[in-house]
Amino acid sequence: MVAAVDWLLRGARLVTPAGEVGPLAGSRQGDLVIHDRGAVALAGGRIVAAGPEEALLQAVGTGPGTREVDLEGRLLTPGLVDAHTHPVYGAMRLDDFERRARGATYAEILAAGGGIHETVRRTREAMVAELATGLEARLDRFLACGTTTIEAKSGYGLDTAAELAQLKAIAAARHPVARVPTWLGAHAVPPGRDPDEVIDQLIGESLPAVVAQGIARFADIFCEHGVYTTGQAERLLLAARAHGLGLKLHADELVDTGGAALAARLGALSADHLHVANPKGLAAMAAAGTLAVLLPGTSMFLGMREPAPARAMIEAGVPVAVATDHNPGSCPAVSLPLMMTLAVTQLRLTPAEAFVATTANGAAAVGMGDRIGRIRPGMRADVVAWDLHDWRELAYHVGSVRVAGVWVAGRGVRGALAHASQDAG
Ligand code: NIG
Ligand code: FE
Repeated sequence: MVAAVDWLLRGARLVTPAGEVGPLAGSRQGDLVIHDRGAVALAGGRIVAAGPEEALLQAVGTGPGTREVDLEGRLLTPGLVDAHTHPVYGAMRLDDFERRARGATYAEILAAGGGIHETVRRTREAMVAELATGLEARLDRFLACGTTTIEAKSGYGLDTAAELAQLKAIAAARHPVARVPTWLGAHAVPPGRDPDEVIDQLIGESLPAVVAQGIARFADIFCEHGVYTTGQAERLLLAARAHGLGLKLHADELVDTGGAALAARLGALSADHLHVANPKGLAAMAAAGTLAVLLPGTSMFLGMREPAPARAMIEAGVPVAVATDHNPGSCPAVSLPLMMTLAVTQLRLTPAEAFVATTANGAAAVGMGDRIGRIRPGMRADVVAWDLHDWRELAYHVGSVRVAGVWVAGRGVRGALAHASQDAG
């Protein structure tokens, strides 16, 4: 018998990725565990029991402090995990948006000193406190869509001080949505600079400063034709690895530069975008256990015609995560349910594969596959109740999100259900 729990969520249609920890790949990418009449008990910030309601009610103790909520058949899932976002920035990019509508491409705007460079100018103007306040407002919008953890990149500072300011804002924001910080100092080549010299400076100055402050878990680089080459990416990422950071890459988004194979060779945790990745690179990723983080919102927002080769990835055995890429330029979306819709309709994932891609595989892609992304005893108590009954509806309602309650680390943080008083339910 588990001693008195903090929350007892019953009457749930409980859906969670199969397996105990880590990503699901290949024929297991869509494996789910479903309990039509399920329940979950939360205590001390963790999930302490989960499963069929009847058995759970016998195994779990309740007391005067227990809040019991009858979900009346609503869907209950793990909190969603967004494994790729750029959420700290000074201003929107509405002019780019309009320019693209008139025919300019993303790469042209960047090459002309706009795009990321425009956001860098606007972000450098802001102080840490302002950046954190802007981030908090965005985190509210992520939470409203059922996301409880995001990977959060810097990358709109580029120089050491401005990158540190962004990473500090990620740490300083007061908000229940958890952040996994990534240093992306190599997001663009500052205008007029030689890229090799910039890489030297990033390795010699920014990287040690970031590591000394302990405010990044991963290093990332925009490896792309016209930005940084695979050789430059390798140099930076090897240095980051030697400093103990995990590795991620923006790879093979617009041009196939062999980024997927590089990610595998370096033992990166994930390679992201991979729109035009080649089959050899994908096979190398499968062998190395490198996750693919696909960003179908970006393809949609940039009007790319061909979707990323998601089916080939799953067939090759690459574990696939799906994320928003939230940023002011190429994809301002915050909704993982919308990304699930795009994953199903554009990437041709099944609804179950898309669900795993935003839960267990998202968690694995931020290095937390043993702690979040599933409803299992011992995991952090991040769960979402939805005003939905069939789990396929998560991906089905194109752009409308129906969150009924969100709990993060065992605390009710959003929705009427999660604010139930002790005698409610
Ligand atoms: O992942 N590709 C590079 N970085 C972001 C876009 C950032 C921006 O345009 O501000 C991306 O799409
Ligand atoms: Fe990105």
